[in-house]
Amino acid sequence: MASRAATRPGTSYLTTFPTRYIWSTMSTTTHEHDTRTVTPVLQLRGITKSFGAVAALTDIDLDLVAGEVLAIVGDNGAGKSTLVKVLSGVHPADSGTITFESRAVSVPNPMAAHQLGIATVFQDLALCENLNVVENLFLGQELRALRLNEVEMETRSWELLRQLSAKIPTVRIPVASLSGGQRQTVAIARSLLGEPKVIILDEPTAALGVAQTAEVLNLVERLRENGLGVIMISHNMEDVRAVADRVAVLRLGRNNGVFDIATVSSEEIIAAITGATDNAVTQRSARRTAPPVSTTTLEDPA
Ligand SMILES: Nc1ncnc2c1ncn2[C@@H]1O[C@H](COP(=O)(O)OP(=O)(O)OP(=O)(O)O)[C@@H](O)[C@H]1O
Ligand SMILES: [Mg+2]
Repeated sequence: MASRAATRPGTSYLTTFPTRYIWSTMSTTTHEHDTRTVTPVLQLRGITKSFGAVAALTDIDLDLVAGEVLAIVGDNGAGKSTLVKVLSGVHPADSGTITFESRAVSVPNPMAAHQLGIATVFQDLALCENLNVVENLFLGQELRALRLNEVEMETRSWELLRQLSAKIPTVRIPVASLSGGQRQTVAIARSLLGEPKVIILDEPTAALGVAQTAEVLNLVERLRENGLGVIMISHNMEDVRAVADRVAVLRLGRNNGVFDIATVSSEEIIAAITGATDNAVTQRSARRTAPPVSTTTLEDPA
């Protein structure tokens, strides 16, 4: 892991993560061996979102640095998709602050996220089966002078796919005839058209076979090499270990730890997911649901 990070030009700070948690608690940091100061591209503080009585997210703090892959893991209902939706403007947060490239921003709708440079690839990919790769890439954002510039769009499609080292034989075949991994590639390439700074992938390897998963993980590495900040939601610990630099654990809508992948064990991550190692907040909520203490011990003996 460390050696992989070290081979990436311009991202050597990833090899010098001081200790776990530091990125989640500091806005900027300077390592003793590294005089550069790293400012997160995206910073969340106190993000809270409820749906009626359901507290989907409570007080989430998170930092994302350009050129890193941050995995977000957690059990069903932990709040992962809600966090993605807050960042993509689908469900704006109730409270908390989002700082993007050192500016406090609001993300009230998907257009605002797009304009900021936050791209999201949702799990369902939202591709049109009957349209070919080029048509899918440029759907709704077609290049045109007086009429559609087919040649330019096809050239740009090849450029994008080459940038991702994508294995797609031709850009003129319908998406329906592509494999799951190739479709994920098309969906990611589509999101790159807006030249985002941050890309969020919701379960990019779910329902993929071994070879296709490897293909998509390679793609995630290309995104990092291209300097994007990547947030990857995943249920798969192997994928997280294979590609992430850090992993943030959500539990019951709260941040239950941010770990440097080079030093954390899978057991520690799983313990944070299941609540075997709770932080102070989740311990408190567990105490509140514990059986009541016998009232005799609480009564004044006098
Ligand atoms: N639109 C909504 N309306 C009401 N409740 C919602 C809505 N979206 C999410 N929730 C609730 O918020 C909580 C967090 O859900 P979320 O979908 O973010 O979890 P998740 O971590 O993505 O889970 P999964 O792994 O199952 O996808 C859950 O209790 C869920 O029922
Ligand atoms: Mg989800």
